Formats: sequence, structure tokens, C-alpha cells
Amino acid sequence: MTKMEGMQAFKDVFGEQPTDLFTAAGRINVIGEHIDYCGGKVFPAALNLRCNVYARKTGGNTVRLAFRGIEGIVELCVDKLDSYKELKIGNYQAGVAYYLQQEGVEIVGCDLYYDCTVPFGSGLSSSAAIEVATAVSLCEYAGVAYDKVQLALISQRAENKYAGVNCGIMDQFASAMGKKDHAVLLDCSNLSFEYVPLRLGEYCLVVANCNKPHNLVESKYNVRRQEVENALKLLQTKLDVGCLAEITPKVFAEYKYLLSGVVAKRAEHVVMECDRVNKAVAALKAGDLEELGRLLNESHYSLRDLYEVTGKELDCLTAFARKEVGCLGSRMIGAGFGGCTISIVKKTEVDGFIRRVGKAYHDAIGYKASFYETSIEDGITVEKL
Ligand code: GLA
Repeated sequence: MTKMEGMQAFKDVFGEQPTDLFTAAGRINVIGEHIDYCGGKVFPAALNLRCNVYARKTGGNTVRLAFRGIEGIVELCVDKLDSYKELKIGNYQAGVAYYLQQEGVEIVGCDLYYDCTVPFGSGLSSSAAIEVATAVSLCEYAGVAYDKVQLALISQRAENKYAGVNCGIMDQFASAMGKKDHAVLLDCSNLSFEYVPLRLGEYCLVVANCNKPHNLVESKYNVRRQEVENALKLLQTKLDVGCLAEITPKVFAEYKYLLSGVVAKRAEHVVMECDRVNKAVAALKAGDLEELGRLLNESHYSLRDLYEVTGKELDCLTAFARKEVGCLGSRMIGAGFGGCTISIVKKTEVDGFIRRVGKAYHDAIGYKASFYETSIEDGITVEKL
């Protein structure tokens, strides 16, 4: 949908022209998976796939929501924002409005039309993009100065407490704080961060969606989170640490006898993945893309064998990618169980890569993968129309 089409769609639903366009990004994660909620460092980047909100302030006490491709309008009354948890559509928005209000932001009536180009359930964080774009819209109309990191935290709270998904901070942070052509090295234990240029020379990142039908990802995600919390409690009986990310591979090797079964596997993934992030960032800074690719592959194997969040679709898609001569590495990103992969592919090979990997995947799985044209962009944008 072009900007003109977005504006027209807004007018068709609400009868007037929108005055503003607020956007927030979907994200990829170069490396550092399932460690944000263990105090680890992650390395995401904001995408050109985004949640676009065409907006107009109306005053009064109703926030009206409309969505591309969905009939009708959802109305949120600003006096009872805690009562929309059960909404199938609009609950993320209500949650963000509710927690902003709790922080003292006056929620002002407005009309918001959502054109989200982040595919839903893809592991590219459509929900974070929706939350952050909503938070920006509501703060702009409340006339308050806002801090983007605070918006990310409020968005995460909405997802945790309102939508019931116990996610970490990575997605909302990347969606709000992403920077064009950079990845964000974010330390989730204290939210300190560094922008690192995503310089891949003659290579680029190819994002592919395995298109596995989405099911129960949220509940499986919450189970993983519980498992690593159990691991931490057991390790804390002997180790003075505040989170799993503080444990080095060497110390873990000494103390892993405290753990058994899946809990041991989950913790091992976290410890080793934290170590890989440091190595991957060093490799990227040194221009050693082969090493970066190797670490991406290792990350995937660990998510497959230790964290057990991949599945045959993501395993096939990344395995076919790795067979390509122009591909340095490939892994699943996001929560897993379906969704997207990233691969480092030589620019001159991208067309052939997509054709061959796409065909092999279709032959093996029985339906098609999607490949997206992506670029790395800023997180939040604000524009007068
Ligand atoms: C989802 C969550 C994030 C993070 C990833 C896995 O995207 O929202 O907080 O935990 O999964 O790395």
C-alpha cells in the first residue's frame, strides 16, 4: 500500500484525511536468540517491513482503530482501558494505551488506521511493531515528550501483562531504537547498547519465511522461559549470579552437574549463545564474514538440539540454504517453531539462491517459503501528512 493509498484508506473508514503517519519497525536478529530474558546480549536490526499508522487526533475519550484488510472499527474508551484484554484484534493497542495511562500519559481520542507490512506470525515481530507504533501515536497526541526506550519498555509490559506473552525486551527495543544500516548490540541486563554498522561487503542478508502455520507459539515460548528460570534457581544454589548470561562456558562446565534433562540443555544453549554473540560481533567488526556465518549455523544447531524451538520446516530451510556455495550461514530468528530464517548470501547469487532453496523447500515440505526484500532502517518514524 503506497502512502496515498494509506491516506485514502483512512479517509474511506473515518471520513476525514489523516494528519500524521507514525511507523515502527519489524526486526531481524543477527544472533543472540532466546537469551534476552536471561540478561544476555542480543544483536537485532530494524527492518523496512513496518507497522504504519495513519492517524488523526479527534479529542474526546474514544480511540478508534481500523486495520487494512479487516472490516469494521474497534473502539477503545479511554476510561476503561483495562477491559479489552479479550479482544482478538486491538488488544495490543489497548494494552499499550492502558500502561501509558498508568504512567501518567493522558490518552487523547484519535483515529488510527493500521497498515502493517510485517507478516504476522513470521518471527519478525509484528506485535512489537504494532505496540511501539501505537505508543508513539498516543504520546504524540498527548503532547508529551517521550523517551524511545521507555516506549519500548511500556510496549513490552503490554505484551507481558495484557497479551500474556512473557517476551523479553529485544523486539520492542529494536522496533523503537533501530538505526538505518546498523544492528543494535543490546545488553538486556541493563539496556546499554551500541550501534554496529551491518557491513557485509559483497554479501547481504536474505530473510525467508518457512510459512509453517502458526500454533501455540506463545504457550511454548512461556514454557521455555520457565525452564531457564528453573535452571537459574538451581545454579544459584552454588553460584552467586543474577542471571544465566553472567555464567561463562567454563564456569557452566563446572556446575552443570546441578542440572539435568531439558533444563540442562536449555541452560547450555543460553550460556553458549551468549558467548557466540560476542564472537559474532567481533567477527563482523573485523570483516570476517565466514566466521560470522559459522556462528549463525552454530546458533541454529543449538536452537534445534538444545533449546528445541526449530522444527522440520526451519531445519530444512536453513539446511538447503547452507548447501548453496554463495551462502556463509543460515539460522532461524525470533521465537521459533515457525517463522523466518536469515542467511548470509553473496549478492550476485541471491536470485539463484532464492530459486533453488525455494524449490528444494517446496519439494520437501509441500508448500512454499516466502523470501522478502529487506533493508535495515530506523526504528520509529514520525511524519506530518
Ligand atoms: C520473541 C520474543 C523476544 C525474544 C525472541 C527469542 O521474539 O518476543 O523477546 O525472546 O523471541 O530470541
